[in-house]
Amino acid sequence: MKLSYLSIIIGLAVQSALAVPKQVKPRRTSSILINPDAQPDLPSPQAARLSAVSPANAGLNLNDIQGDILIGMKKKKELFFFFGIKDAATFKSKLASDIKSLVTTTNQLLSVSTQPITAVNIAFSQTGLNALSVTDSLGESLFAAGQFADRTALGDVTSNWVPEFSGTNVHGVILLASDTDDNIQSELANIKNILGSSITEISRLSGASRPGDQEGHEHFGYMDGISQPAVQGFTQNVLPGQALVSPGEILVGTTGDSGTRPTWAAGGSFLAFRKMQQKVPEFNKYVIDHALSVPGLNQQENTDLFGARVIGRWKSGAPVDLSPLRDDPVLAADPNRNNNFTFDHPDVPGFNLANNQTDCPFSAHIRKTHPRKDLGSEATLHHIMRAGIPYGPEVTDSEHASNKSSTDPSLERGLAFVAYQSSIQNGFHFMQQTWVNNANFIFGKPTPPGVDPIIGRVSSTTPMDTPRIISGTNPLNGAQTFSLDVEFVINHGGEYFFSPPISALSGRLAA
Ligand code: HEM
Ligand SMILES: *[C@@H]1O[C@H](CO)[C@@H](O)[C@H](O)[C@H]1NC(C)=O
Ligand SMILES: *[C@@H]1O[C@H](CO)[C@@H](O)[C@H](O)[C@H]1NC(C)=O
Ligand SMILES: *[C@@H]1O[C@H](CO)[C@@H](O)[C@H](O)[C@H]1NC(C)=O
Repeated sequence: MKLSYLSIIIGLAVQSALAVPKQVKPRRTSSILINPDAQPDLPSPQAARLSAVSPANAGLNLNDIQGDILIGMKKKKELFFFFGIKDAATFKSKLASDIKSLVTTTNQLLSVSTQPITAVNIAFSQTGLNALSVTDSLGESLFAAGQFADRTALGDVTSNWVPEFSGTNVHGVILLASDTDDNIQSELANIKNILGSSITEISRLSGASRPGDQEGHEHFGYMDGISQPAVQGFTQNVLPGQALVSPGEILVGTTGDSGTRPTWAAGGSFLAFRKMQQKVPEFNKYVIDHALSVPGLNQQENTDLFGARVIGRWKSGAPVDLSPLRDDPVLAADPNRNNNFTFDHPDVPGFNLANNQTDCPFSAHIRKTHPRKDLGSEATLHHIMRAGIPYGPEVTDSEHASNKSSTDPSLERGLAFVAYQSSIQNGFHFMQQTWVNNANFIFGKPTPPGVDPIIGRVSSTTPMDTPRIISGTNPLNGAQTFSLDVEFVINHGGEYFFSPPISALSGRLAA
């Protein structure tokens, strides 16, 4: 918790001056959100308001933008409830009369005092909009066709797609976030009661931040949610090294979005959801078996270094580009320093960005997904706001001892991946297809970097666990290749949704 006491007091004062609650609801005394030191803080309500009203930002309406879009990977617990619409007329009327008032705004999440007991967001697939007879084009063909139609381009193996996502049956998703499962379950019961038989459940996925000192870390053990774009009109305090993007890269119909959208959609965002299983014991074994041999480091340090160079960050979150040989938890915990790098080192005499990967491999996950100075400038239009959460239990002793993930479905673990962007084509889809899955990216290197070691696939037709060749991981010999004979991440499918502005829930979508 890094909100200053003063900002809370001011927040409360502003709140009580502005808000005239419709009804007195129970209020929170502790946050729905995690805030590990390594992750950027959310803006205070006042800072966000100042940022949003600045004319250059075309006035983002943070009371109309759904709360999940801009806050990142900070939920304590989150349930994804995927549904189909059975009775459009009833659904529309309940959406406007009851559901809309449950949907949590961006502003509400920024201060504990305004957070609901359980935050609720809702998003629709194209077939969901169709079911509501909303046929206006949102100007995004990948959304219109759905993610199942995109699976080959993404490199997915079709047989790994679970039945619920295989096709276009999912009409929408309700996202429920809180600090306890009980809160979530009772809000879900309330919503199901409101919507009755106008919807049917297709599936659900329950996520949670990991326990204890792993809070904020994904299942392989690395701190996540550190590097997020700063959004003009929301982020007042841009951190050193943070990419600053126009709101239109994340929110449709706002400054910088070049798509053609219906007026009612402004302030909405496309939500790319993926259910990504992580094979943690297999990953750990691979890392142990490929420990580096850098002089001066012991066995454990050489093991950790290999893993860190696969990701581009140490488990603490410290970037290898700034701390190339050993973890640095103090650096990791400082958001003013932990994202302040470009992969270039002009201060090192003779350093050549084009071919020197001594500090960070070209193949590292964070470099394949965000090449920074490698492409000359930050203004790539290929930014996403990540808002996922880990799902599934911790590794069991028996999985750990056998180096194998259990096949028991109740022990499956991974990342409920969520990315928000104004264009799936330029955001998630581009990243996965053109950067992650392209062995030659970052382009023009003597040894191809290889596909992303975490999430890259050679092609949708290569069977799982076909060896993937990466390079650059050994700082002593960048040309040395490693053959990844296990795919540590399995895509079980997903869907493309549109998270509309809240006004549309009683406007266009209910009409
Ligand atoms: C199970 C799957 C995944 C795991 C375990 C994972 C893990 C991580 C970790 C540990 C980081 C570093 C923390 C940070 O900088 O915030 C990171 C960053 C990132 N990941 Fe992933 N990730 C996964 C899937 C994806 C996917 C599917 C994409 C998009 C196609 C993606 C895009 C990114 C981006 C854009 C960053 C930030 C890079 C930067 O700005 O430096 N990740 N991921
Ligand atoms: C960020 O990095 C730049 C360039 O290396 C450096 O000059 C600056 O002092 C760093 N900022 C912080 C807060 O460490
Ligand atoms: C590559 O970069 C490292 C660290 O920045 C530096 O020590 C090394 O001299 C560079 N290598 C070459 C060949 O310039
Ligand atoms: C698990 O992997 C580690 C690292 O390779 C190895 O030392 C250990 O013997 C393996 N255990 C089993 C049961 O295979």
